Amino acid sequence: MNSFEINKIITAILVTILVVFGIGKISNIIFDKEDKNIVAYKVEAPEGSAVQASTEASVDISALLALGDIEHGKKVFKKCAACHSVNAGGGNKIGPKLWNVMFRPVGAVTDYKYSKALTDYGKEWSWEEMNGFLIKPAKWIKGNKMGFAGLKSEKDRASVILYLNQSGDSPKPLP
Ligand code: HEC
Repeated sequence: MNSFEINKIITAILVTILVVFGIGKISNIIFDKEDKNIVAYKVEAPEGSAVQASTEASVDISALLALGDIEHGKKVFKKCAACHSVNAGGGNKIGPKLWNVMFRPVGAVTDYKYSKALTDYGKEWSWEEMNGFLIKPAKWIKGNKMGFAGLKSEKDRASVILYLNQSGDSPKPLP
């Protein structure tokens, strides 16, 4: 084998490595993009569920709340009670007190130290916001410090939202 042939072989190996590596890079870039799209348009409602939505923002909130039951919500709230009080005059725990939380501005309890994520959020706890938040708190308001995975079940969410609505001075009529 002369040195010219050896050169050809080495070049072929180098080119192969470059191509393989290059494809890996390119596909990383493509899949990165796809991941972002999936997150942006993800719909949490399971297939065949009573509440279908094209995006989270357009959830049919009356249909969702119709699945709820206050007594069931009281039971679901046991998952929250380690960190939140919900009775009138209840205090802050690990999380802020939740009496009157529905339709109050996000992050409004003055003697509770919220994360910046909540104080800067600038919205109020509407039916839709509360539903979105409780599906997956970490995703709905990025950077908040509520250490709770979320409530997957629509009935659980609807019920606990009705229970929160009931736990206030002036419960709102359902939409
Ligand atoms: C492990 C503790 C923990 C659990 C369990 C928990 N939370 Fe929280 N929650 C927090 C903390 C901490 C915050 C404050 C988050 C921040 O400041 O970023 C919070 C904030 C909130 C807020 C915002 C209140 C406001 O004043 O703006 C709501 C609403 C809420 N939680 C509802 C719930 C509900 C409903 C459940 C049960 C389904 C629940 N949380 C379970 C710790 C918890």
